[in-house]
Amino acid sequence: MSASHQLRCTSCGARIASEAVRSDFRCPDCNGLYEVIYPWSQGWSAEKTASAEVRLPNPGGMRHLWQERRTSTMPVDQSGVWRFRELLPIVRDAERVVTLREGNTPLFEMPRSAELAGVDWLLAKHQGMNPTGSFKDTGMTAALSVAVERGFQWVACASTGNTSASMSAYAARAGLRSIVFIPEGKIAWGKLSQSMDYGALTVQLKTDFDGCLKLLTKLVQQFPIYLLNSVNPYRLEGQKTPAMEIVEQMEWQVPEHLVVPGGNLGNSSALGKGFLEMKHLGLVQRVPKIHVIQAQGANPLYRWFGDENREMKPVKAETRATAIRIGNPASWRKASRVIEETGGWCEQVSEQEIALAKAEIGAEGVGCEPASAVTLAGLKKLVAAGRVTREERVVLVLTGHTLKDPQYTIDYHRGELLTAAETAGATEAERARHAALRKPPLVLEADEAVVLKALKERMAKADAAGTQAVPGSSK
Ligand code: F0G
Repeated sequence: MSASHQLRCTSCGARIASEAVRSDFRCPDCNGLYEVIYPWSQGWSAEKTASAEVRLPNPGGMRHLWQERRTSTMPVDQSGVWRFRELLPIVRDAERVVTLREGNTPLFEMPRSAELAGVDWLLAKHQGMNPTGSFKDTGMTAALSVAVERGFQWVACASTGNTSASMSAYAARAGLRSIVFIPEGKIAWGKLSQSMDYGALTVQLKTDFDGCLKLLTKLVQQFPIYLLNSVNPYRLEGQKTPAMEIVEQMEWQVPEHLVVPGGNLGNSSALGKGFLEMKHLGLVQRVPKIHVIQAQGANPLYRWFGDENREMKPVKAETRATAIRIGNPASWRKASRVIEETGGWCEQVSEQEIALAKAEIGAEGVGCEPASAVTLAGLKKLVAAGRVTREERVVLVLTGHTLKDPQYTIDYHRGELLTAAETAGATEAERARHAALRKPPLVLEADEAVVLKALKERMAKADAAGTQAVPGSSK
């Protein structure tokens, strides 16, 4: 049995050697999902935990080491995932990992969004600033490195677009072949183009994400293909590292709240694991409340929280935030535990609220894809419900880059995104915000007088509406 880690079923608790896991990453006894545990993890065994903790650098030593690696020229140190490799010893030879220098993403101050949400202090961890434009890269470097170590030639995933973009890139770097299953017509062009650019065999299936994952899960049991969806527990090991980065970037302070979009629910599970492990190891004294936000049309976890029988009922998902158009999330049990253990909450937000929040994040010069904007929309609701108070520190996890889905942004600004019914559902204040934020392009004759007149009008109007500069930034 591998000394560095084991897999533990999150449903029945059964433990297996990492090499013994089935190709669908499901427990043969109860169909539950696995998590990676280490000799220092809670519940490994009493005497081993004690001795392994002694072997690990002390918290102060680890913090120093992780910081120091940022100035190293070695790829493994430059990666914002493998920089924290003491907490994810999942490969034997760390110097052979497949990395595109993922992680090390910025933590932006969001003063205008803070004001809109009703908090004093708001930060955004922009995971869209990863090499392929989404948070998936942090998980992909981890799981794909395991695939390479195990000798796989083929890797595959079902995806709403970002996982497939990320997997194809990392597979290409490693010289592996990749297969992508995506729902036909329901993914953003930016993402679809990426998997083709990186040379994947791209299969558009006439079904939704849930249908794609179901089919792929069956296929991997018949071919030697390594499954890279977030049911693969190694993905989550990489995706837990932004938790370390956030506290590092806050000088080892812990925010009171972390707000995360929820789709297949791997990311919220991973970030929760990261924070809880850091607390267990004494790197931090407490953890943030982790809140998961779903789109109203793809809200199975939100419904589960409201269901007194606590029964998970898959839904037929529909939302323009196609990244989270998922009705039967694989990691719902893990995510619900994280929410309960950290004292967080699950919220849902409408299409109109998502569109507004996305425009607001864009107007702050940051931008994100629609699925990421659910975080700001959700935060407004958490504040209104008194779950987040004004003076508490909040971090939004922005999961994808704004260029992933330019069509959504263009449709919004042209006034072609929302239906009349959706707009009618907005409050007076929200409608005024939409009107102020929409910036459709002007189409003009290339004539000096015409252009001058139009510019004068627009500039006077903008000046009358007041300055947009971020306080403290150069104007
Ligand atoms: N935000 C973005 C931009 C995503 O691409 C996803 C998931 C999520 C949020 C939700 O994260 O599934 O861990 O709860 N995208 C997956 C994909 C499903 O295939 O790219 P989750």
